[in-house]
Amino acid sequence: MEDKKTILQYDVQQINHLIRNRRSIKPEKYNNKREVPSFILDEMLENANWAPNHGLNQPWHFVIFKGEGRKKLAEFQANHYKTHTPIEAFKQGKYEKQLNRPEKATYVIAICMKRIERTRIPVVEDIEAVACAVQNMHLTAAAYGVAGYWTSGGVTYTQELKDWLGLGAADQCLGFFYVGYTDAPWPTSPRKPMSERVEWVG
Ligand SMILES: Cc1cc2nc3c(=O)[nH]c(=O)nc-3n(C[C@H](O)[C@H](O)[C@H](O)COP(=O)(O)O)c2cc1C
Repeated sequence: MEDKKTILQYDVQQINHLIRNRRSIKPEKYNNKREVPSFILDEMLENANWAPNHGLNQPWHFVIFKGEGRKKLAEFQANHYKTHTPIEAFKQGKYEKQLNRPEKATYVIAICMKRIERTRIPVVEDIEAVACAVQNMHLTAAAYGVAGYWTSGGVTYTQELKDWLGLGAADQCLGFFYVGYTDAPWPTSPRKPMSERVEWVG
């Protein structure tokens, strides 16, 4: 019989490396001719499901745009920009970016938080749990050398998007997670030393 006290052991050096080298890589850097296989997406989603969450609410909900579905998202967000931007502020380049971006990725995932009925868990904690789920997805992608990027720009916080995604009044969209392969060198990102962010009491 297996000893219940068995300590699971991991390659901590590899985990440290993965966490520190996970990067946000924008879709403009993707090679959209090389598709990310669905088994990688499946693993990203499965790992998302194992994120910590208060009350086991599992508040994450992902709407995945792939293939032709990416065009629907592209048209929705570009059209939203056009119809909600005053003529004098309208920028053709920004419109085209909204229209072209989704098809640069293999998958674009709308990151949503869905409230369960009569939960006593504060909404901020459901949002935090979804962010943890996204981090699990992002780390899994990075482990496969797949690029990921969370954006909260554009239509993210609009009522029109909520309606389009079929979200309820208490639910929220928290952005879009782009997934694709990149041929560009894996980027670096700066961080201030952790010592500046920690206070010790004791
Ligand atoms: C909730 C959230 C929203 C974000 N939204 C944007 C965004 O709209 N535009 C953007 O350029 N980056 C966005 N990012 C990515 C950050 O710019 C990125 O994480 C940061 O630059 C650090 O880079 P790294 O992820 O490669 O370490 C977002 C990240 C998070 C967590």
